Amino acid sequence: EDVFMPALSAVPVFRKQLSVFMMLTVDLIHVAGSKTTDAANCSLFCIFQLKPDSVVEAISALPGVITFTVNRKLLVQVCESELPQQEEEFGLNSKLFDTLNRGTSLVEFSSPNIAKKFHAGHLRSTFIGNFIANLKHSLGNRVIRMNYLGDWGMQFGLLGAGFGKFGCQQKLKQNPLQHLFEVYVEVNKEAEHNEEMKLAAKDFFKQLEQHESEAVSLWQQFREITVHEYEHIYKRLGVHFDIYSGESQHQDQAQKVVQQLQTQGLLKTSEKGTGVVDLSPDGDMSSFCTVLRSDGTTLYITRDIAAAIDRKRKYHFDEMIYVTDKSQANHFDQLFQILLSMDHAWADRCRHVPFGLVQGMKTRTGEVVFLEDVLDEARTRMLNNMSQSKTTKEMDDPEDTAEKVGISALIVQDFKGPLQSDYKFDWDRILQTQGDTGVFLQYTHARLSRSGSFICDETWQDLLFSLLLEQTGITILQHLLRYDEVLYQSAQDLQPKHLVNFLLKLSHLIASAHRELPVKGSAPGVAQARLRLFSRAHSVLANGMRILGITPVDRM
Ligand code: ARG
Repeated sequence: EDVFMPALSAVPVFRKQLSVFMMLTVDLIHVAGSKTTDAANCSLFCIFQLKPDSVVEAISALPGVITFTVNRKLLVQVCESELPQQEEEFGLNSKLFDTLNRGTSLVEFSSPNIAKKFHAGHLRSTFIGNFIANLKHSLGNRVIRMNYLGDWGMQFGLLGAGFGKFGCQQKLKQNPLQHLFEVYVEVNKEAEHNEEMKLAAKDFFKQLEQHESEAVSLWQQFREITVHEYEHIYKRLGVHFDIYSGESQHQDQAQKVVQQLQTQGLLKTSEKGTGVVDLSPDGDMSSFCTVLRSDGTTLYITRDIAAAIDRKRKYHFDEMIYVTDKSQANHFDQLFQILLSMDHAWADRCRHVPFGLVQGMKTRTGEVVFLEDVLDEARTRMLNNMSQSKTTKEMDDPEDTAEKVGISALIVQDFKGPLQSDYKFDWDRILQTQGDTGVFLQYTHARLSRSGSFICDETWQDLLFSLLLEQTGITILQHLLRYDEVLYQSAQDLQPKHLVNFLLKLSHLIASAHRELPVKGSAPGVAQARLRLFSRAHSVLANGMRILGITPVDRM
């Protein structure tokens, strides 16, 4: 089941046939008595029932193992006709994807909070959301990438009230994220013992809510300067957003949502005087969601309801995907439930992609506060590792390479397991050249980039017949043919692990091929065939890396 997805295959001739054999085998084992420990007997029993044909050339059995040998010539032909020539054509053209709905996907990700820390969770959201957006795009969807900033709330009351005392315009321009965070920390400390400061903060936030121009313009300055700074950092990551939205954009609409809920008879008043929506199946308030504070102000969820409705109206998405850590799973459940109960049937096509915590992401100087710290650290460490190698000295821009490789290390580490899992962060482990790391993917890519190009005038098929003799080459071809399946699988559950593990496996296969299938010193035909094989592998690897959000390097 893991290997073959018959009905969806781009290479039906193999997968259908093989899976029919597989299923038959399983059935037969079942009939023969799966409880018997005599596996050899089962196998033999199967063998008599299965007849080789033009796809499966031979079937043989050892105790407990049945081997199906595929027709290698056919495999090569299929490779030639099915694998796209150009890197850009992957995914899009595959027949496998005719069954997918290609519409507009709105992907909301990263979404940091202004003046607060950019934590590892935001970094994960950035990587994962970017991957999902890339994947959807490569499968032919229109994709809208949205960043929903935490740009509203009491932190702006505090910042606004305290900026006069602790802030400095010059520092704000020089190092905005850092400075806003410092001011925020200072004001918070002050407000702990200073009632006046607390009141001033409340007052400032009220002014904001009432759109008073002075307060709004200071808020706007904080926001603009932050977005500008983030854009610069996202660029380093190779990530872009079509829209910078945020909680602030929906606070008026949030009040309308409350009215709407009231009109629809969905709003109840709790004993504490807050506005709530009953979410219990039996209508007994055993579970509910607060959408309005007793002082009449709205909450995070109220703004999310408003934001979702607004996005549907503006962008007509066919699906919307939210990427945040798993602690917000309940929030999104409630959000979708409320939208549905308001008769927004499209909420069915909204999806939350939750992920686990990262522990111990630290830099040499201590705790990670800003995204830039992580990127700088990755680059410095990578540069340090690379400085031992000869090729580094020949590079035009080793810093740039170190940056790209460092980021790929972060991404692969993050994507290897199920997204829901927590993981421990370890710089040394993720930066290893050997083993399942992003550095290894980059290394393989760089090596393939330098393997030289083949001459096109001989046909691929003729060339490949000389490859047929080698199992290594066949294994790589078989692996490459699974690429579309892997994209499909990732598109189904939005988990990058399928693609990452596919590319890591490919890289391991290529490492063996580099040892076992030398180009230099081989007869011209054989050399050409091998180059062609490497070139195919190169484009699949590059394409897959890009979808993951990695920029492949040609030298390292
Ligand atoms: N800013 C939020 C946080 O840092 C994440 C926003 C997630 N998106 C949403 N539509 N609620 O936790």
